[in-house]
Amino acid sequence: MTKNSTQLPDAVWRRRFRRRLRSWYAKHARVLPWRGLRDPYPIWVSEVMLQQTQVATVKAYFTRFLRAFPTVEALAGADEQRVMRVWEGLGYYRRARQLHRAAKIIVEKHAGNFPRNADAAGRLPGVGRYTAGAVLSIAFDAREPILEANTARLFSRLLGHGGDPASTESRSILWAMAEALLPRRDVGSFNQAMMELGSEMCLARRPRCDACPVAPLCLANVQGRQSQLPRSRPKCLVEERREAAVLIRRRGRVLLVRCPDDGRWAGLWDFPRFHVRSRWPDTLRRELVGKVRRRTGVTV
Ligand code: ADE
Repeated sequence: MTKNSTQLPDAVWRRRFRRRLRSWYAKHARVLPWRGLRDPYPIWVSEVMLQQTQVATVKAYFTRFLRAFPTVEALAGADEQRVMRVWEGLGYYRRARQLHRAAKIIVEKHAGNFPRNADAAGRLPGVGRYTAGAVLSIAFDAREPILEANTARLFSRLLGHGGDPASTESRSILWAMAEALLPRRDVGSFNQAMMELGSEMCLARRPRCDACPVAPLCLANVQGRQSQLPRSRPKCLVEERREAAVLIRRRGRVLLVRCPDDGRWAGLWDFPRFHVRSRWPDTLRRELVGKVRRRTGVTV
């Protein structure tokens, strides 16, 4: 089936899908520290951490972060450097800065309550349509769809959708599928069940169709096309960069600099780091001595 002929499933298919998904999830849901919570604050923190990081890594960071900042007020009132320190190791540090900024907005403009409306929630820094839908459905059972990497792959296969999943047209088909499947009640556990099915069964490589509860409903499986779908994205361009970090020690202390707010590693503390051209040790040393002097005033 081509992307233009992708059709959303009818009501009978949707009912069968929900029934199969629910009974599978009741038996196979993983126990995760944020599961079962209804307070939007920790759910929001978990969803932001899960945006670019695997569940196994997030577990320990989630517990540590909530211990350091147990409420949205505690996070809003914290010093940014402390927030960054607690986040350290999780990567994608912009997420931490946006979480902190959004916490301040929630406290100052929403009386400490996570906005219950998806549009308002989606205007918070770092909260897109997916995160708003996840938090509102899990915390309040709001009837909001979600679409993230795992469910996008799952839907592409269920629908036998051959378009580029990153294209605007495919995104709108996949969001429409997420919306069409929503049940009337228990939306939060339904959304989590779909993410679980996507991440545990509908694997990117070698999907586990033999154990998948919805395999008979899946067009890709029925047509034997599960290894070709979703269509892989064009490879991204890789830019080669040579950088050198310089360790400057004086009287037992080490010089660190704060990275500018608008570039990579924005706001983080780092050794002075430079883009370098020279390849030979002697010329590299000369290049770095000059760059260190101009950036920091330190002469070697
Ligand atoms: N990935 C993103 N959000 C998730 C959640 N709530 N449960 C499992 N995996 C997820």
